[in-house]
Amino acid sequence: MITIKTAAEIEAMREPCRITRDVLEVMGKSLREGMTTAQLDKIAFEYIKDCGAEPAFLGYGGYPASSCISLDDMVVHGIPNEHTVLRPGVIVSIDVGAVKNGFVGDAARSFYIGEISPEKKKLIDVTRECFFEAVKDLSDGTPLGDIGWRVQTHAEENGFSVVREMVGHGVGRQMHEDPSVPNFGKKGTGIRLKAGMTIAIEPMINLGERYVKFLPDGWGVATRDGKPSAHYENTVLITKDGAEILTL
Ligand code: MF3
Ligand code: CO
Repeated sequence: MITIKTAAEIEAMREPCRITRDVLEVMGKSLREGMTTAQLDKIAFEYIKDCGAEPAFLGYGGYPASSCISLDDMVVHGIPNEHTVLRPGVIVSIDVGAVKNGFVGDAARSFYIGEISPEKKKLIDVTRECFFEAVKDLSDGTPLGDIGWRVQTHAEENGFSVVREMVGHGVGRQMHEDPSVPNFGKKGTGIRLKAGMTIAIEPMINLGERYVKFLPDGWGVATRDGKPSAHYENTVLITKDGAEILTL
């Protein structure tokens, strides 16, 4: 069931979304060579708690941390741990969510530290651009398929590939609500988006082939060919004449 948020619910959602945006900014600024992903996750936990919010991921389906931190060939759902150390030249994709006022904010960014190869830099840039392509012209009445079509077109025009196994989603009182929001598809297909819907649009783009493998920890997803992947996500409100990005 797709929920349409009332004006009051939309107001309530702004705060967890703002906190999610801010925690990503704080984590991005905290990135240092030699740091473990567990240390980075601790920053997320403490920041979210200090805001009087709850980490949306912690305990979700048994997930053991407040954020997902996925390096290089990890696509998403990297579990922070004390053995994974941040090194220069590595893509650091951070996905985090906060719950406050009964609503969830969900967002992700790909960062890097030190010098990075031009092809990885381009992958990060194009993944972010895919998101902004998707929200371009998004408004009440836009067919859902247009989002995936725009993401896929931009990624493939740049020689990259789109992960199919994981998709964006409605977001609200629950982290994962209907509809599913794939990053691939055909223009003009699918349900029509309506003002008051809130969705997480989250391109996951691979430098090499699109295929992924699921890691034995039950969470991690990595590219099959071992080439890098990037992720960019925001919680987006559909409005009468456009879209408002709540986690920016
Ligand atoms: N932001 C994610 C998503 O959109 C991550 C959820 S990870 C989990 O699905 F660990 F919380 F499940
Ligand atoms: Co999400």
